Amino acid sequence: MFQHISRIQSALDTRLPSADANPQRLHQAIRYAVLGNGKRVRPALVYASGLAFGIDIERLDGIACAVEMIHAYSLIHDDLPAMDNDDLRRGRATCHIEFDEATAILAGDALQVLAFEILASDSTIQATAEQRLELVKLLSHASGTFGMAGGQYFDLAATNSNKEISFKELEQIHALKTGALIEAAIRMPAFLKNNLNENERINLEIFSREIGIAFQIQDDILDEIGDTETLGKNAGADRELGKATYPALLGLDKSRELRDEHFRIALEALEQFPTEAEALRDLAQFIVEREQ
Ligand code: IPE
Ligand code: IPE
Ligand code: MG
Ligand code: MG
Ligand code: MG
Repeated sequence: MFQHISRIQSALDTRLPSADANPQRLHQAIRYAVLGNGKRVRPALVYASGLAFGIDIERLDGIACAVEMIHAYSLIHDDLPAMDNDDLRRGRATCHIEFDEATAILAGDALQVLAFEILASDSTIQATAEQRLELVKLLSHASGTFGMAGGQYFDLAATNSNKEISFKELEQIHALKTGALIEAAIRMPAFLKNNLNENERINLEIFSREIGIAFQIQDDILDEIGDTETLGKNAGADRELGKATYPALLGLDKSRELRDEHFRIALEALEQFPTEAEALRDLAQFIVEREQ
């Protein structure tokens, strides 16, 4: 689907522990969860952002892998019985169904730290110690309690809650649980270009924030209108679980309208980068139009 799909597939393959290495079953679970049929939107954003700012593609593989590993770990844990209790992911059994819960929890744990090991030590990134530190800070912030993990907490707290959440709270859930990692995917490679000016930095932040929220609104819409076969995960699961989603709170039409509004603001922020950000624009379009 994306230009660099085979590149990220092989970059992940070579950076994941071999299934022959001990503990073999844990390594098999890790490879199962990561190398399955993901769309690789976040790696695609890493490449598009890095290339827009003139970073050599060879330096982007490690960052793309680190972000996708955090994402894969978040999906493994998201599917656990204690969270969304899903049995289908990327068109096949979720990690804890295919293996077992303890193995799935450990696979997630291991992927999370592998992401940071890559940022710290992968020589292909060709970064100074100071730059690596900043990459670690960006990704850890996006993954922690002020990012993905915090958003997942708020998501679960709002699930089947007696108290209806406000629109602001809903937007916050989406910005954190999904938006934060997408923001990091776009901002990390751009950070390798040391001389982004203030205006460029702010516009890139606006783009990444807006498209991150739009991504999760479309995920909510697809859960409501998509089919399980195309999605590769159980359609209608949000409604069944009583999740706080855009369609549940605002209806489908309003959800589409807000998704398109976030998309519009995102594109506006990219106007400063007329030619170099073409791939980022295409990805933004894919994010709001996707059916999978
Ligand atoms: C699904 O993400 C989980 C969310 C954050 C909404 P993706 O739709 O990118 O899932 P994969 O990686 O393609 O399976
Ligand atoms: C997941 O949101 C966000 C994560 C951090 C994994 P969802 O729970 O909506 O993702 P799906 O629909 O299961 O992929
Ligand atoms: Mg969830
Ligand atoms: Mg889920
Ligand atoms: Mg969802």
